Amino acid sequence: MKLTMRLGVRSYDIVVRRGALARVNQLINLNRKVLVVTDEGVPRRYVEAILAQCGRGVEVCVPQGEGSKSFACLERILTTMLEAGFGRSDAVLALGGGVVGDLAGFAAACYMRGVDFINCPTTTLSQIDSSIGGKTAVNLAGTKNVVGAFHQPRLVVADPDTLDTLPRRHFINGLAEAVKAGLIADEDLFELFETGDADKDLEEILYRSLVVKKNVVENDERETGRRAVLNFGHTIGHGIESAEHLGGLYHGECVALGMLPMIEDETLRSRVKAVYKRLGLPASIEYDGDEIFRFATHDKKASGDAVTVVRVPELGQVRLDKIPLEELRTLIGEGIQ
Ligand SMILES: NC(=O)c1ccc[n+]([C@@H]2O[C@H](COP(=O)([O-])OP(=O)(O)OC[C@H]3O[C@@H](n4cnc5c(N)ncnc54)[C@H](O)[C@@H]3O)[C@@H](O)[C@H]2O)c1
Ligand SMILES: [Zn+2]
Repeated sequence: MKLTMRLGVRSYDIVVRRGALARVNQLINLNRKVLVVTDEGVPRRYVEAILAQCGRGVEVCVPQGEGSKSFACLERILTTMLEAGFGRSDAVLALGGGVVGDLAGFAAACYMRGVDFINCPTTTLSQIDSSIGGKTAVNLAGTKNVVGAFHQPRLVVADPDTLDTLPRRHFINGLAEAVKAGLIADEDLFELFETGDADKDLEEILYRSLVVKKNVVENDERETGRRAVLNFGHTIGHGIESAEHLGGLYHGECVALGMLPMIEDETLRSRVKAVYKRLGLPASIEYDGDEIFRFATHDKKASGDAVTVVRVPELGQVRLDKIPLEELRTLIGEGIQ
């Protein structure tokens, strides 16, 4: 299937197709210098498949994990591009999960004030969510995504076959963003998680989630307003993700936890927890609430003594609320039960 993100001159196709990774060059010109950014956990055969299609491919392979969304890795990519003589008509291609996508996308946004960016996401999370929308970033001094840019890709190619090699926990982790999409805008998608089989329904899950995100982004590309609904679960989620000693949790798992206090209807909250249990996502956690609050409010969404949070009053509905910081502290509590 193919979707088109309609953003005027920045419009692009999102191709979701089994086997598509071997045919990216039929969708976009790879017969130029292409900086392929990947990480050490991405199976080599995917990297080889991409390099084989590039006329002049140069690879940068960073270590696995969130730590690679760093200035050090960014500098390595930019230096490699400079030394290899990359010009403005060359391209950066991300092959991997959200870490590689955010890092490579930001490098593409910065190099010579912006070159083409092609995203080939290979994790559930990146195929469902992070590869579209144009948000790119690295972390700084422990604060997530605080240095970044909006830089839309020219093309997104998601090949669901690549998910066969993804460790199960990462596979499930990404589904949290699809549960989010269902909760804020697609009741049927949410109900699919209650009654269906995530493995068998994968393509429908990918498609419906991408449609939710696409509709929001098309109406507010730069998050001056409504796009913030996509941050549902992310204020407390980022707080949990940033807390060093909880570093063992993945992004989607943190978002899953962070959504729970923001669901107002108790029956719906119980249904969501049942979905988490069914999938194997965490449904409760204990933490030091002050620490989570500190990290959550370092978040760029905080301004002055108020913070904008995203709440789901009932299934398929979403509301942005500006609340005093103390109220956020109360919502964070000392854990999520
Ligand atoms: N830009 C956005 O809009 C946006 C949205 C959501 C999340 N994010 C970011 O995405 C990041 C998380 O992304 P993620 O969950 O994809 O994690 P990730 O990029 O760390 O990938 C998870 C792991 O899977 C491995 N891997 C990747 N593809 C594989 C495959 N096909 N087979 C086997 N192993 C594979 C990687 O080596 C990595 O260790 C976070 O940094 C988060 O902030 C960005
Ligand atoms: Zn997210």
